[in-house]
Amino acid sequence: MSLGISNVVKGEAVDFKNPPKEFLEAIGGAEGMKELMYDFYDRIYESEIAHYFPQDEDEFQKVKEKNTQFFIQICGGPKVYQEDAKELDLNEYMIRIHDDFSITEKSRVEWLGTMRESLEAKAKDVDFNLIEEFWNYLDNFSKLTVNTFSDGSTYYASLLDKSDSRLGN
Ligand code: HEM
Repeated sequence: MSLGISNVVKGEAVDFKNPPKEFLEAIGGAEGMKELMYDFYDRIYESEIAHYFPQDEDEFQKVKEKNTQFFIQICGGPKVYQEDAKELDLNEYMIRIHDDFSITEKSRVEWLGTMRESLEAKAKDVDFNLIEEFWNYLDNFSKLTVNTFSDGSTYYASLLDKSDSRLGN
């Protein structure tokens, strides 16, 4: 599987498109997405970014569940995550969730690399074009979660107050 990781440039507008519903269907709907995301989080706990996440088992379980719900919804599935985002655009809400953590360029690469392993393990039967569309969302959207840069500076991206950023749809 050849899924590349592009560079994040501080403050640069990020163009992205939400993943297609066909990806959700091809992975096996809600149950398949759950398998992918649980596999991902199990790998996260063996990764270099494990320390970002709750060590408490119940809290860890909640993150797994929330993550699964988010990805079902962002792929155009049922609005199972909606409640949390309230009135905010789902992607904007997701950027803000990450403000509480100092996310670096390096941790983004580790996150994406871990997700690539899960896709290799759990999306074997999915059409590669659909995997690519899902991946393009992850590669691009994840740039907006990076808020701490290698020169020590911080920058908090937003889709709301910049005319040069676009809401994913
Ligand atoms: C495509 C990019 C990403 C997406 C879509 C995403 C999605 C999510 C979701 C859905 C949650 C759960 C939110 C909730 O509790 O309601 C979450 C939490 C979190 N994510 Fe991400 N994430 C992304 C990238 C990253 C990256 C690059 C990091 C780097 C370390 C990261 C670190 C975290 C942390 C630390 C939490 C919170 C765990 C806690 O509640 O204690 N995420 N993310």
